[in-house]
Amino acid sequence: MSASSQGFALITGASSGIGATYAQRLAARGYDLILVARDQTRLDAMAQSLRQKHAIEVRILRADLTDAADLHRVEHELKNNAAITLLANNSGMSVDGDFLDADIERMQAMLALNILAPTCLAHAAGNAFRTRGRGVIINVASVLALVHEKFNGAYNGSKSFILTLTRTMQRELAESGVQVQAVLPGATRTEIFDRSGNSLNALPPQIVMEVDEMVDAALVGLDAGEAIPLPALEDLAQWQELDRLRGTIVPFLSQSQSASRYRVRSVNDQGAVAD
Ligand SMILES: NC(=O)c1ccc[n+]([C@@H]2O[C@H](COP(=O)([O-])OP(=O)(O)OC[C@H]3O[C@@H](n4cnc5c(N)ncnc54)[C@H](OP(=O)(O)O)[C@@H]3O)[C@@H](O)[C@H]2O)c1
Repeated sequence: MSASSQGFALITGASSGIGATYAQRLAARGYDLILVARDQTRLDAMAQSLRQKHAIEVRILRADLTDAADLHRVEHELKNNAAITLLANNSGMSVDGDFLDADIERMQAMLALNILAPTCLAHAAGNAFRTRGRGVIINVASVLALVHEKFNGAYNGSKSFILTLTRTMQRELAESGVQVQAVLPGATRTEIFDRSGNSLNALPPQIVMEVDEMVDAALVGLDAGEAIPLPALEDLAQWQELDRLRGTIVPFLSQSQSASRYRVRSVNDQGAVAD
């Protein structure tokens, strides 16, 4: 049970960066919290400070979300704790270097954390919230979901996966009373860069946002019912036009015949194509 009328928000990756900032903001909005991450010491300190500051209930669910048993415990909590009303599906990691240069074992861990874990948690929360007719799921993706030109393709692809997953969930949950959002932050000042061996200092300062500003913007988007907030993008029409164009191609992508430029006209005995 939650004493708060808001219920519990379960936040993964709550021990630092974007997740810790969501924890502060949601506490200020009156949510009780369930904080998920690996670092027990940091989680204990956060929980104590949030309880004192906001007079809310804060529980810790220590879990390594790349570990199947730990992930299952968090799924179980989402399925069975009816007081949970919000999931911030946030924990994630990146890796150092381009795809071919990066360590393959680190990338395997990254895909487990950035894809498998949020998928299982979104599935558990989506079903539980749909049954209760109420709930909010915030899936933290990245602007790199839209970028093919730079950085590590496996990381970018993991965030494209979250964007696609979120959009299909939005369709499936459209009339259910459940709000699902994919947040697409640009570069945000957190520990993710140091943890992966990258440096924020390598980025031009004008493209790096402070974490408080990023989360506050995403929450403005949440309050406005925005499906995909892009906190750094000034001209929303650019995104809307890109998405509109993507939608216009969809009816033509699957046909019974190949496109004329691929059609084999006739092949002679020597295998050559002739008119
Ligand atoms: N910062 C950016 O520029 C940026 C931009 C776009 C999207 N994002 C996304 O934002 C999300 C949060 O990242 P952040 O920037 O806030 O990075 P961060 O400060 O490094 O936070 C990552 C969080 O994930 C947790 N975590 C890492 N490995 C974990 C594991 N195996 N099991 C459970 N929890 C784990 C960490 O806690 P423990 O170490 O205590 O487990 C930490 O709380 C990620 O999904 C990231 O991809 C970040």
